[in-house]
Amino acid sequence: MKRMAVVTAGGDAPGMNAAIRSVVRTALFNGLEVLGVERGYAGLIEGKMHALDIRSVSGIINRGGTMLKTTRCEEIKTGQGLQKAARTLMANKIDGFVVIGGDGSFKGASELYEVGHIPVIGVPATIDNDVFGTDTTIGFDTAVNTALFTIDRIRDTATSHERVFIVEVMGRKRGFLALAVGFAEGAEFILVPEIKFNLASICRKIKLGRNNGKTSEIIVMAESAGDSSLIAEQIRKRTGYDVRLTVLGHALRGGPPTAQSRILANQFGALAVHFLLEGAEKSMIGIRGQKIVRADLDHSLKRRKELDKQVYRLAGILST
Ligand code: F6P
Repeated sequence: MKRMAVVTAGGDAPGMNAAIRSVVRTALFNGLEVLGVERGYAGLIEGKMHALDIRSVSGIINRGGTMLKTTRCEEIKTGQGLQKAARTLMANKIDGFVVIGGDGSFKGASELYEVGHIPVIGVPATIDNDVFGTDTTIGFDTAVNTALFTIDRIRDTATSHERVFIVEVMGRKRGFLALAVGFAEGAEFILVPEIKFNLASICRKIKLGRNNGKTSEIIVMAESAGDSSLIAEQIRKRTGYDVRLTVLGHALRGGPPTAQSRILANQFGALAVHFLLEGAEKSMIGIRGQKIVRADLDHSLKRRKELDKQVYRLAGILST
């Protein structure tokens, strides 16, 4: 292998920059040339890539976002888009490709491999942590901490005003982010799409808690667990308490990556290059327990990561 490329695709995640830096510097250290694809798969289709040198990735390890930019690209889901993207890689004599992103980007990577047969390694980076094959993803820990920073402040005002707060967090179709945030925050309730909840019972518990001396409630809710304004309205009607809703939204995608997100990015990025050098064809990197592993990309795409129901139950016990 002589020449490789790196792309960030799909939604950005804090630590993507650190991963780019790690890929670039590991590649250069091993005598490879490395090109950066601009604007995700859209840039790949348009042939937008440029050489990255050692200084081009200076000063980015601590920055959120992605210096290469990223896009949601519909064209990569089509045969024509895949052909164009593969042509860009071939025209630039790329013989190894690192895709930094979530499962949507991994799907693109897998299909691109089938068209161009250029070895590809997926580096999981998403605040949703919904990629099968890895316990955690680059950016997830940062998003959890960003949410906690804000909810700790919400708790102060919630307690002063004796209010119920619903805090909606991202996570796409899954509840990993909501569960981790709710568990770490000591939220009274956590609403996730994977586990059915009953509003009448939640309202009964809220009232019971107030009778037992609680002065506020935080309900952390995944964006896919239902309509947060409707739920706020229903809780207000059923309990008679003051209810407020805060949607954290895209704020969770930005900001400086935490130590954990940076360390993971450093390790994942370097290993992606090493796996390519060892001849891996179509793989992803993951961390399981304390171990960083290589996994089959297609296997990951076919499987659904399970939410930790024990953690969910424990969160309920601890927040009474
Ligand atoms: O996948 C990351 C994510 O932030 C999800 O949590 C969220 O549902 C989605 O992206 C938002 O996408 P967009 O940035 O395109 O609005």
